[in-house]
Amino acid sequence: MIRIGVIGAGGIAMGSCRAFAEHPEAEIVAVAEPNGERAAEFALRYDTVTQVVAEPERLLAIDEIDAVYVATPNYLHAPLSAMALQAGKHVLQEKPLALSLEDAAPLAAAARAADTHFMLGMNQRFAAPVQRARQLMQAGRIGRAYHCKAYWRRRAGIPGIGSWFTRKELSGGGALLDLGVHMLDDAFYVLGNFRPRSVSGAIYAEFGNRGLGEGGWGPSARSGRTYDVEDFAAAVIKLDGGATVLLEAAWAMHLDRAGDMNVELYGTEGAIDTYGERLCRRETDGYHIVESPDAGGLAYPHADRMHHFVNVILGREEPCVTLDQALSVQRVLDAIYRSAATGREVILD
Ligand SMILES: NC(=O)c1ccc[n+]([C@@H]2O[C@H](COP(=O)([O-])OP(=O)(O)OC[C@H]3O[C@@H](n4cnc5c(N)ncnc54)[C@H](O)[C@@H]3O)[C@@H](O)[C@H]2O)c1
Repeated sequence: MIRIGVIGAGGIAMGSCRAFAEHPEAEIVAVAEPNGERAAEFALRYDTVTQVVAEPERLLAIDEIDAVYVATPNYLHAPLSAMALQAGKHVLQEKPLALSLEDAAPLAAAARAADTHFMLGMNQRFAAPVQRARQLMQAGRIGRAYHCKAYWRRRAGIPGIGSWFTRKELSGGGALLDLGVHMLDDAFYVLGNFRPRSVSGAIYAEFGNRGLGEGGWGPSARSGRTYDVEDFAAAVIKLDGGATVLLEAAWAMHLDRAGDMNVELYGTEGAIDTYGERLCRRETDGYHIVESPDAGGLAYPHADRMHHFVNVILGREEPCVTLDQALSVQRVLDAIYRSAATGREVILD
């Protein structure tokens, strides 16, 4: 039985921990959450929790805990994960990896030195359509992929103007770090290429700064109306080998639907619409579009990062998200902000 401690019982942990609870060999035994009401609600929902504390340090001192799930505001990710690894725990951490590559450095060092596992919880990777797209790519069904268009756009989805999400010192950034990170990670993962060579990006704050575009996500406390992050980001990323990724992330924009997301792959012999689960190929008698193409048995049929993480600790699965991959994605995110600030392309050596 893998005993789990949860750090931060906010919007995401409250729901995503269900998957831990459903794993037959995992049990949530403790929660660290400074908001007393939320901590109590979490312990009520997950009734295997026997220890409720306010500070992560107290949770990390509990010997019986094997693994922790870090689901706090972004600025606490890297320091808390490093501390947990140094306390001998396995760590599953929410995205983004850190506020910046610099912020990630002590965590990366702790993860490399640890005997335990560190994994960034890129949940989108485990979605069956993403697994299927990757397997179709690997099987050569679209030939060589030369371009990927990845986007996650919302019409009105700013997660609380004035909450930690919209304060750069606490979040590190806006739509790019919240939504763009998922699609960038998906794109690299499906392409099987985490080797970026250059980045050109732009960011915009066009809605939140006017008090527009707020969504209804989460219980995060709002204090004031500080909004010093982007609600839209766009970037072109060139990869080793020549393929390009075109990325868009929007918390808010004028859109004829509530939102959309996809990772589209353009290949020499076909194209993949990842989330639409369609494969388009030219066959001898013309164009064929295959709905839900057969990609063989999925690598992660549980389609869930929590199940995967527990299985990794139990030695049954290899970690799907590696530290080097997470650092590569963070490097590109940093470069997008740098390119946006300087107006120039950033070359990555
Ligand atoms: N993977 C996904 O799809 C997904 C979706 C939403 C959020 N997230 C990520 O999850 C994290 C949390 O987001 P959220 O929406 O749940 O935010 P939230 O504000 O609802 O929850 C964060 C919780 O952390 C608690 N907290 C603050 N300081 C703490 C500390 N020192 N120790 C312990 N707990 C502390 C807060 O009181 C709050 O309850 C963020 O990093 C976010 O990027 C991921």
